[in-house]
Amino acid sequence: MPGRTVTELERRYGRRGADVLGALRDVVAATGRIEPADVDRIAAELRLPRAHVNGAASFYADLAPTPRGRRHVRVCAGTACFAASAGTHLDAVAVALGAPVGSVSEDGGVSVQPVHCLGYCYGGPAALDDEQPCAGADLIDQLTGGADPRDPEIPVAVAVEVPEPIVLAGVAGTGPEPWEVWEDIVRGGAHDRVSREVKASGLRGRGGAGFPAAVKWGSAAEAPGDGDRYLICNGDEGDPGSFVDRLLMERDPHRVLAGMGLAALAAGATRGIVYVRSEYPRARDALRTAVAEARAGGQLGADLFGTGTGFDVEVFEGAGSYVAGEETSLIHSIEGLRGEVAARPPYPTEHGYLHRPTVVNNVETLAAVPWIVARGGAAYAQLGVGESRGTKVVCLNERFRNPGAYEVELGTPLRRIFEELGGGPRDGSVVRSIQVGGPLGGFVDARDLDTPLSFEALREIGADLGHGSLIVLDDRVDRAMLERHFWRFAASESCGTCAPCRLGTQRGLERTEGRGDPDAATAFEEMLEAMERGSLCAFGRSVPPVVRSIERVYGAAP
Ligand SMILES: Cc1cc2nc3c(=O)[nH]c(=O)nc-3n(C[C@H](O)[C@H](O)[C@H](O)COP(=O)(O)O)c2cc1C
Ligand code: SF4
Ligand code: FES
Repeated sequence: MPGRTVTELERRYGRRGADVLGALRDVVAATGRIEPADVDRIAAELRLPRAHVNGAASFYADLAPTPRGRRHVRVCAGTACFAASAGTHLDAVAVALGAPVGSVSEDGGVSVQPVHCLGYCYGGPAALDDEQPCAGADLIDQLTGGADPRDPEIPVAVAVEVPEPIVLAGVAGTGPEPWEVWEDIVRGGAHDRVSREVKASGLRGRGGAGFPAAVKWGSAAEAPGDGDRYLICNGDEGDPGSFVDRLLMERDPHRVLAGMGLAALAAGATRGIVYVRSEYPRARDALRTAVAEARAGGQLGADLFGTGTGFDVEVFEGAGSYVAGEETSLIHSIEGLRGEVAARPPYPTEHGYLHRPTVVNNVETLAAVPWIVARGGAAYAQLGVGESRGTKVVCLNERFRNPGAYEVELGTPLRRIFEELGGGPRDGSVVRSIQVGGPLGGFVDARDLDTPLSFEALREIGADLGHGSLIVLDDRVDRAMLERHFWRFAASESCGTCAPCRLGTQRGLERTEGRGDPDAATAFEEMLEAMERGSLCAFGRSVPPVVRSIERVYGAAP
């Protein structure tokens, strides 16, 4: 049967694809840019078509054919850093380092690459100087030697309504140990206890879509076919403004791994992959160390506690793409392909990595699981509102008086988060809007502060829970600046697979930069409608609601 043959070929050889991004990254690190001969060599070595390797090489920002200097500086152009400097820092860095944005200095010494978020949104603007983080208002001084590089820790707190830290248990230093229930569950073969407790908890995915975790695991467990099944932890955390996944992967990586293990048992998965964005080198290293420790401690491996049950994890590094966080794109990326989105169905739970049943879950979703199984799903479900149960870690940007990561009960009014936890705007800042839920979320203002933080209520005001970030923008940023910033992001990160988003994001950018057809106002509305109805994934579909939320808060365009 041809289908079987293809599956068998994938099983034997498909994993070579996983080496493509690593091989290309090595070339960039060694020589600064990928030449056609490098593509030929890698294709020959991995016995893959040249087009496969070339496709990947031309898709990801880290592998882009722009020249690199001996020193490579990634400067955050994400919304929290944009809000911190009112959009001025990127050009200022380029001038100070003598390298145009997206290019290299004349002597080849230094290159400047704009990226979207480095996870320092609480203390930006931020940059990665090779792998050295630098963050703060004096970023230019840090990069030019006038001040020491600053790598501020993420401020963390748990709201009093949450009786015990859940997701932040390890970071806060109280609550169940990550692996507390693991041995019992594996030895007792109590895999269905995990599904039962998580179903009772009402846990919904924290990566944006809010899909019930236990239902997703059940679909993968019931999917037909034999052979390996995969559990992928999505650590791509693309949303500028969110840094909870970085926090968890860096400071409590064992909780992430233990959550993966428990989810894998419920989903019938035997192999785990953590996908970490390349902008998070410390998270990558912390996870690799934790995997080695867990193997040495017997928590990961082929034969856990002598039971014959196996589960092991590998850490995969991304190569710079926002859309690669979308689950089908993420799977393509691990297969060494371009990070393009695939139409669903079929869902990854049936046809995922190497066409095998695959669960993709967000870091924060998985980090909640050890607590839920240890304390019981009912205890988790006691917190929350409506269909939004449990807690969410919200991330507040640098424009707050008290920026940082806060674990709050779902249903907490935005006002409490904004005023009491965040302390309102930092001194001297006049709030103009708050972006809730990342670039695919929406902009709200003071009128909306009584809205509860929940999947349902935020949608009603034209925003979205997304990954739980709140970015305050002050009055130094006007409507035109914000629109330009938003469309630049959309146009540079669209994966290009579907026409409405591929074309629409470019037209939107041209319009905000004054390059479009000035008489095309009606056409613009039609284009937004086409994007909303016809885009393949939530990226393109979310652009029009975001544009409308800007209009609602800042007033209609002149
Ligand atoms: C454009 C786009 C980007 C996304 N980026 C991320 C991401 O960075 N991290 C993440 O966990 N989910 C991201 N998602 C959602 C994933 O597709 C997927 O729903 C999620 O990882 C599933 O995990 P969960 O059920 O635990 O939320 C993104 C979705 C879209 C459409
Ligand atoms: S909507 Fe945009 S990001 Fe999503 S598949 Fe289409 S082109 Fe790619
Ligand atoms: S570090 Fe700049 S937006 Fe997150």
